[in-house]
Amino acid sequence: VNDYRLARRASALPATLPESTIPAEIDPGTICFDSGFAFPPLFPDLSGFAAKVLTDGRDEALQYSNAQGRTGLRGWIADRMNDDGCRLGADDILITNGAKNGIDLVCRLLLDEGDTIVVTAPTYFTAIPIFRSFGVELLEVAQDEHGMRVDRLAERLASMRAQREPLPKFIYNVPDFHNPSGLTMPLERRRALVALAAEYNVPLVEDAPYRRVRFEGDDVASLKALDTDGRVIHLGTFSKLIAPGLRVGWIASEQALVSRLMRLKCDGGTSALLQGIVYDFCRSDAFDAHVQRVRDTYRQHRDTMIAALRRDLPGVEFLVPEGGYYVWLTLPAGIDADEVAAKAGGAGVQVLPGSKFFANVGTAVDAGRYLRLSYSYSTPRQISAGIGKLAGVLGMLAPGALSIY
Ligand SMILES: Cc1ncc(COP(=O)(O)O)c(C=O)c1O
Repeated sequence: VNDYRLARRASALPATLPESTIPAEIDPGTICFDSGFAFPPLFPDLSGFAAKVLTDGRDEALQYSNAQGRTGLRGWIADRMNDDGCRLGADDILITNGAKNGIDLVCRLLLDEGDTIVVTAPTYFTAIPIFRSFGVELLEVAQDEHGMRVDRLAERLASMRAQREPLPKFIYNVPDFHNPSGLTMPLERRRALVALAAEYNVPLVEDAPYRRVRFEGDDVASLKALDTDGRVIHLGTFSKLIAPGLRVGWIASEQALVSRLMRLKCDGGTSALLQGIVYDFCRSDAFDAHVQRVRDTYRQHRDTMIAALRRDLPGVEFLVPEGGYYVWLTLPAGIDADEVAAKAGGAGVQVLPGSKFFANVGTAVDAGRYLRLSYSYSTPRQISAGIGKLAGVLGMLAPGALSIY
């Protein structure tokens, strides 16, 4: 065994390769409620756009991209965000390799070892190891049905200031159809969060991959639209609306930060070919109809899952998400969600236990009572069957618990 001298951020990482997490590589009989994968029948036919980009646009498509990303695509993104209440130009946008790349870049921009950042409890679990790799402390703030408890954060910031502790370097949040809890933060709470960030001069990182995947109700102003002094760094992506395999996303921020983020993004630029395909598809007549189809299809998936949960799991609590990919279940007291997830996997239904979504497991009260179910990837028939199987597992682990309420 080689005795490598690994960096601190790598030394705790496993030396063995993980099992595949690609649903298609798992047993085809398995029902996958555990991933944020898109529903394959929703992928648009991009072949015509690709052919055109590779012929008429070949010289640009096969060249290194402009480091900030293709100008036309940046302008299109800025225009759409302006339709949504922002005030941005193409130069306020940096194209990234998806939102995860955006998270990593923002960390590179703002974090030093020993810093503190704020996340919700629970939070987007893939971001946790990214944050940890920068050697920072994660300060968890509880949520209620309106998302992050801004009042609790205000108390915490006041106490940090009173104790002369260094303030958090940023506040990370997913205000629309939160992953994993499915919650959407109402306008008043958003205003309070933006005002609090201004009072303490802490940047707000708004991660909004599901923003356009809304099934009903009106859009709530994004944090970026409420931002009057450039404190919000907004992360967007085409993963949830078009296809995650494209790996095209963006950061919207003030130019002084975009300029630095661009220099920290040392990967030779996001693929010019893929940016070209995305841009041509977005400005084609097919785009609006595609967005509508995405919303209608995931609404149907959500409705099927909610109906099955009400039918088969009456003792389990949840809020109905107005968009996005996830339902967050609270199990009856006394049932261990990690055990449920393990047993459900054995019964052919993959689910994620809530404990994965808490940055500091052990300090979070009740982290073991939650399950995250994703309705994006499975067909309605699989969704219905999968909830039935999950009910079978819960019924075995805690007979009677499902009819308590
Ligand atoms: C909150 C959140 N942020 C970021 C991402 C990743 O998006 P991308 O595919 O653009 O990296 C996801 C995907 O699951 C997500 O749920």
